[in-house]
Amino acid sequence: MKIARAAFLLLCSLTFAASAFAAPDDAMIERGHIVYQKWCFPCHGTGSGKPGTVSLAARGQKPAVLEERADLTAAMIKTFVRHGVLYMPMFRKTEISDAELDAIAAYLTRNNKQ
Ligand code: HEC
Repeated sequence: MKIARAAFLLLCSLTFAASAFAAPDDAMIERGHIVYQKWCFPCHGTGSGKPGTVSLAARGQKPAVLEERADLTAAMIKTFVRHGVLYMPMFRKTEISDAELDAIAAYLTRNNKQ
């Protein structure tokens, strides 16, 4: 009985550890792409008149399109999304859940050097 319980607890903690520390996989990056298209692309996409891209370009940021960058960190992305900046609104968890934000971060950091 005791051994079965210990084995069960071990299995639970291993499953938890695996899910908590798993590297972003393709499915998560793809999910992040979909969420990004909905909430971020209108301001940060390519093409003329995207206010986030225009603003970052004016600031001298190269590339100005977020999806082309390789220097963004997950922590930085999450801070901007939860707090906003200039006329970028903050996004609540009811709009973008923590899991969706993790997925956006995985998508936008996919080009970073490991
Ligand atoms: C209403 C337009 C708008 C929307 C929607 C928007 N942003 Fe922004 N974002 C901006 C503006 C404007 C800035 C500030 C640019 C500057 O500093 O000149 C910015 C800045 C940022 C920055 C900081 C970049 C840097 O190098 O300083 C990040 C990261 C970012 N946004 C991520 C996101 C993500 C992820 C989403 C979607 C969840 C999003 N933004 C949605 C307008 C927007």
